[in-house]
Amino acid sequence: MRPPAEAIGTLALIVGAIAVAIFIGVEGALVYAVWRYRTSRVSTPARFDRNTRLELAWTAAPALTLAVVFVLMLGTLRDIGAATDAQLRIRATGHQWWWEFDYSGIVTANEMHIPIDTAIDIELASVDVNHSFWVPELGGKTDMIPGQINHLRLLTRRPGVYLGQCAEFCGVEHAWMRIRVVAETKEDFDRWLATQGSPATASGDGARVFQSNTCVNCHAIRGTSARGEAGPDLTHVGGRATIAAGVLPSDAASIRAWLVDPQRYKPGAFMPRVPLSDADLDALASYLGSLR
Ligand code: CUA
Repeated sequence: MRPPAEAIGTLALIVGAIAVAIFIGVEGALVYAVWRYRTSRVSTPARFDRNTRLELAWTAAPALTLAVVFVLMLGTLRDIGAATDAQLRIRATGHQWWWEFDYSGIVTANEMHIPIDTAIDIELASVDVNHSFWVPELGGKTDMIPGQINHLRLLTRRPGVYLGQCAEFCGVEHAWMRIRVVAETKEDFDRWLATQGSPATASGDGARVFQSNTCVNCHAIRGTSARGEAGPDLTHVGGRATIAAGVLPSDAASIRAWLVDPQRYKPGAFMPRVPLSDADLDALASYLGSLR
């Protein structure tokens, strides 16, 4: 299978080239006419109504051009359509304002890992409003619509980090709904997935603070009794590059700042401020940061 981003890129280049050729032709003719007849003193311009050949020509030319573009587009659509031959399926669910990624029961948030050279089918869902999954370097932009599953086919040959963004206005924090896709070798991906599938191992004072406060109502940490589903799964949150869908890095200091006042960093987010003592904040932040 061909990488969808490559198919889309090629189509864009071809359509762009056609547009540039038309632009040069039309503007060239205009400039030429202005220059060629600049000194003419014709008092009554000649009339050209009812020129059948001309009218046929300027109807047929654009129709033909669009027909060519249409056929090319059909080919590209086939290239990027839902993967019946997918080797990996990921369910991506849009939430206000973060992403849930489900690898057949192994759930993570905001950072999606994919193996390279693998045909991937992403099932796009939403639990609240319309979102749109868009990682420009990997493929097309596809909407996530409540009550419906859309499919997006992904494939890349190049390892690396690809950044994306929700592309459908979904509320006040739409702009802070970023996607981070890590494309890696099959071995690295398998290792990552095995880690994600394992329960949290960290414990200590922070775990107690987490379990005894409202955190557990919204967040899940597998391996503990926390099973909330309203917010991101935090089982391995410290292993991600960012928290809150790209707002802050996921080190303990940033997590602490976030816990102190989420609204300062992401106004409108549904994460409430939980009043905690300084000692509890320290413990909770270092506990979450150590969930790798
Ligand atoms: Cu989600 Cu915009």
